[in-house]
Amino acid sequence: MASEIYLDNSATTRQYDEVTSLMADVAANNYGNPSSLHTRGIEAERIVSGARETIAALLGAQPSEIYFTSGGTESNNLAVIGYLDANPRKGRHVITTRIEHPSVLEVFRHLESKGYKVDYLDVDGNGRIIPGQLEEKIRPDTALIGIILVNNETGTMQDISRIAAIRDALNPQTVIHADAVQAFGKIKLTPARSGIGLMSLSSHKIHGPKGVGALYVSKGIRINPLFYGGGQEGLIRSGTENVPGIAGFGLAARMTAERTQENLLKAARLKQMLIDGLASSDIEHRVNSPGDALPYIINISFKNVRAEVLLHHLEQRRIFVSTGSACSSNKKNRSHVLAAMNISQEWIDGAIRFSLSHQNTEEEMRLTTDALKDIIPVINIRKKSRAGRNI
Ligand SMILES: Cc1ncc(COP(=O)(O)O)c(C=O)c1O
Repeated sequence: MASEIYLDNSATTRQYDEVTSLMADVAANNYGNPSSLHTRGIEAERIVSGARETIAALLGAQPSEIYFTSGGTESNNLAVIGYLDANPRKGRHVITTRIEHPSVLEVFRHLESKGYKVDYLDVDGNGRIIPGQLEEKIRPDTALIGIILVNNETGTMQDISRIAAIRDALNPQTVIHADAVQAFGKIKLTPARSGIGLMSLSSHKIHGPKGVGALYVSKGIRINPLFYGGGQEGLIRSGTENVPGIAGFGLAARMTAERTQENLLKAARLKQMLIDGLASSDIEHRVNSPGDALPYIINISFKNVRAEVLLHHLEQRRIFVSTGSACSSNKKNRSHVLAAMNISQEWIDGAIRFSLSHQNTEEEMRLTTDALKDIIPVINIRKKSRAGRNI
């Protein structure tokens, strides 16, 4: 039996052993500063360039369009704030969705406080934006549209070609920023072909190290830095590069890309096992992730269950899951994503996110379904209160 069942891969993943070895080796042996002119510096710079080439190639981009950052949060901030700061004439109207990750949503809230007009797009019951609403909102002064490609709570994918086509028809000057943190390594991304100008990536969601990410900036798009210093990363991201982290990110991206299709098929199989296992039980539940969501994320609500209580019962069996997104799970507020999908409070209270990686197995899915069948009748709120009244 597995010693633990880790089903929180959208929060973060277990680093590949090969990545850990490479990072230790780079930290020990390639300790130069990539900006130094001597051999040590040049070898460190080669490592950074190698990773940049790998990531660029995976996106069908040029290496000069990839900027390393400290992760998805920084990439999202840099993309949106950096673009608007560098292009004040493009307008003071911006559009995003109600289901963004906080690292985008909070940026738009900040923009509102600075006088930008922000439109937040609604989503349907599957978590997808309504194209007609986007058409209504785009204006001549719309500078930027910020879209989460794959939602981190439900796995819902947005139709980016449709979004880009609407933008092309109504205001080709509007730049699209895609938060691709949950999409990278899972589906093929070609930002230039999809009409995406700016795209955020993060390493730790693909078995790479934490604290490393990248921003794709399409050639010809200008962005300003968030902070100033030595002018590394093409002047837009100062600070000595995290060489071991960048090396690890490059390797993780390459290893993940080699098995994207195989991994996707496996995730779809595992997702179906969990869904079928629950469907054939008498556990009252609803699957919040739509059928065509990316199969790595399965959001399920359990009736008359408090999600945190279920999470801790699963944890006692060393099964690790999440309630909503990791970044907001320590707050008391309800999931803004499920709320935007018009899911009732009762169901939101019982929502658990199971998120998979290729490292999960069929046996783990069976054990998880069995654990749910054991735990849920015991923690049912209704049953408990009825028992309480009888005493
Ligand atoms: C969709 C999405 N965007 C951005 C982030 C932030 O990435 P990072 O943890 O690298 O800052 C996350 C992480 O949970 C995410 O899921």
